[in-house]
Amino acid sequence: MEAKIVILPGDGIGAEVVAEAQRVLESIASIFGHSFAFEDHLFGGSAMDQGLEPLPDTTRDACLSASAVLLGAVGNPKWDDLTAKTRPENATLELRTELGVYANLRPIPVYPELIEVTPFKRQNIKGVDLLIIRELTGGLHYGKPSYRAVVNGQRHAIDTLRYSEEEIRRVLAVAFRLAKDRRCLVTSVDKANIMESSRLWRQIANEVHAEHPDVQLEHKYVDVAALHLVQAGAKYDVVVTENMFGDILSEAASAYSGSLGMVPSASIGDGDIMLYEPIHGSAPDIAGKGIANPIGAILSAAMLLDYSLGLKLESDAVHQAVADAIASGARTADISTASHMSTTQMGNTVIKYLEKY
Ligand code: IPM
Ligand code: MG
Repeated sequence: MEAKIVILPGDGIGAEVVAEAQRVLESIASIFGHSFAFEDHLFGGSAMDQGLEPLPDTTRDACLSASAVLLGAVGNPKWDDLTAKTRPENATLELRTELGVYANLRPIPVYPELIEVTPFKRQNIKGVDLLIIRELTGGLHYGKPSYRAVVNGQRHAIDTLRYSEEEIRRVLAVAFRLAKDRRCLVTSVDKANIMESSRLWRQIANEVHAEHPDVQLEHKYVDVAALHLVQAGAKYDVVVTENMFGDILSEAASAYSGSLGMVPSASIGDGDIMLYEPIHGSAPDIAGKGIANPIGAILSAAMLLDYSLGLKLESDAVHQAVADAIASGARTADISTASHMSTTQMGNTVIKYLEKY
């Protein structure tokens, strides 16, 4: 198998974590006899630092001719001006649109060995196996109009939450399809008691459900779901929701993993090129220290192997190697209560277990 993988380190700890994910992919290539070519490109604040747009044309073109794209993280306090027109985050939003990746899959990895760094008791994490599917190219992140205005001498700001039925239908269809290989339960999260967009969401969810009678559908209001997800996560299987709710709920649910740094994601659509990124941010407070947790990035690479390259066995091998590394006591600072290892040492440990295959 030959593949061209575009790597977008982005900002902050992005470069540190994707370096480990790339090493894991290289190790997979050599163990299983594949040939992966890697290309790095500027993205986000690191592109803006060079006087470029957050998503430079060269980066866009490279992504559009890649087999898959692996992104580190985006965001830099230096570019945090609250009135700025351009922000590093625009790169992420534009790229998601460009690739048409409307469904963001966020599986929450749960390792029993990490119970002590989660806020949970053992009985609360037992049986938790959550896949959060976040709509990724619509909703508040993209809604127009979005602007500021002065009305009667007061500063106002407007954002728009807009969804078309097709945007809702296609992400719900992904949820039902994936639920069939799991526990056949879809929880659709909305705020249908308040918002029109949510009432349309719920209606479409019911319509898509009619095409998938073998899967159970339940609806939950987002405020109820926020509490219930962290109180009784085992009662959920696939949770599907609009962009902003999914951004928030998935980060809350990452508590089951012991750290935000553990959670990977795959963004898929109807096109051939998909985007993979850990759900954590650029963590400027620890950037450059070599202590970031690379597991979210490594598991994102595992998803890449499976979804973009069809290499299920190789993907499983990475999952197993990460589980073995955790079981052996390998810990970065965010998942440790005692001594911890560096980002690179964690990468080395995962690769050591991979090489046992
Ligand atoms: C995420 C992030 C992004 C988002 C930002 C960086 C654009 O929070 O991927 O969860 O809001 O989608
Ligand atoms: Mg987020």
